[in-house]
Amino acid sequence: MRVPSPRPFLKWAGGKTQLLPALAERVPKKVREGQVPVYVEPFVGGGAVYFHFNSRFRFRECHIFDVNEELFLAYTVVRDRVEELIEVLQGLAGDFLSRDGAGRQEYYREVRDAFNRRRKTVTSARFHPSWIERAAQLIFLNRTCYNGLFRVNSRGEFNVPFGRYKNPLIVNEPLLRRDSMLLQNTSVHLGDFAQSLPTMSEGTFAYFDPPYRPISKTARFTAYSEDGFSDADQERLARFFAACNARGALLMLSNSDPKNTDPEDDFFDRLYGDFFITRVPARRAINSDGGGRGRISEVVVTNYPTGRAGTLLPG
Ligand SMILES: C[S@@+](CC[C@H](N)C(=O)[O-])C[C@H]1O[C@@H](n2cnc3c(N)ncnc32)[C@H](O)[C@@H]1O
Repeated sequence: MRVPSPRPFLKWAGGKTQLLPALAERVPKKVREGQVPVYVEPFVGGGAVYFHFNSRFRFRECHIFDVNEELFLAYTVVRDRVEELIEVLQGLAGDFLSRDGAGRQEYYREVRDAFNRRRKTVTSARFHPSWIERAAQLIFLNRTCYNGLFRVNSRGEFNVPFGRYKNPLIVNEPLLRRDSMLLQNTSVHLGDFAQSLPTMSEGTFAYFDPPYRPISKTARFTAYSEDGFSDADQERLARFFAACNARGALLMLSNSDPKNTDPEDDFFDRLYGDFFITRVPARRAINSDGGGRGRISEVVVTNYPTGRAGTLLPG
C-alpha cells in the first residue's frame, strides 16, 4: 500500500500547509544536511509544519508544545495507542455511516454532548485509557463538523454545528499510522511556549507559529486574537525569541503582516528589528478594501540569513 505523505490528522485553524514551500526554502542549510538533532515547535496546532519537517529532516528528537489540552491528548494517543484509537474510531464511523441524514445529525450531537460532558472528568496529568475514546471523539467531530474546525465557546464547550458531508473520511488508517510512526521521536508538552526554553540550544532548530495578530485595526482594539493572544503576548514572545537566540538555537517564526492593511504598521519590524525579516505571499480572506487587494503577505523572521529579499510583494 502507498505510504501517505505526512500531514495533520486534524484540521486546525491557522494550518500552514500552503506556506510549507516558502518555509521549507528558508530552513537553514545545517538542518537540511542533517546536522541539527533537535526540532522544537512551541505552538504546534494541527502540526502541518511539524509533520512535514520531522519526515523530511533527520531529527533525533522533537518537542511539540501547545496550550490546548485536547491537542495534547490527541498527539499522545496517536503516538502511544494508535491501534486502539483506530478501533474506537471505526466504531464511531460505522455507527454514524449506517444512518440516514437526520440520524447522522442526531448521532453527531450525541457524540458532541458526550465529548463536552466528559471534559471536566479528563485529567491530563497522567495517561488514562479514557484518553483514547476522547481522542477518537475529537477526530470524529473534526471530520464531521461544519468546516472541519475545532472551536469552543466561552464555557470551553465544543459547539460547532453538524457538517452534512456526503461521504466524510472519518478513519484514515494509513495516515494515523504514518503520523504515529513520526511521533515516536517526539515529546508532547502541554503548556505555554515559554516552557520550551530548556529545549533550546546550539543543536536546536525551532519554528514558531503563534496565533495571528488580528489583521484589521478594529479587531486589534479588542487586543486579543481568538486564542486570547494579545499584543503584550506577541511582545513577550519576541523577548523569548531573543532568549532562545542567546542560547544558540536556530529560529524561524511567522505571523500575519500588518502592512497588508496599514503600510505604516511596523509592529513586527520593530519587535524583530535585530533579526532577518522576509515577506512571503499567502492566500487569506481579508476585506477587498485592504491594502493587499486579495494578495497578502506573511512575515517570516529568522535569526540567520535566508538569502531572500525583505520586500513586500510587487503590485
Ligand atoms: C496558528 S496555530 C498553529 C498552527 C500550526 N502551525 C499548523 O500548521 O496547524 C497556534 C496554536 O498556538 C496555540 N497557543 C495559543 N497560545 C499559546 C501559548 N501561550 N503557548 C503555546 N501555545 C499557544 C493555540 O492553541 C494554537 O493551536
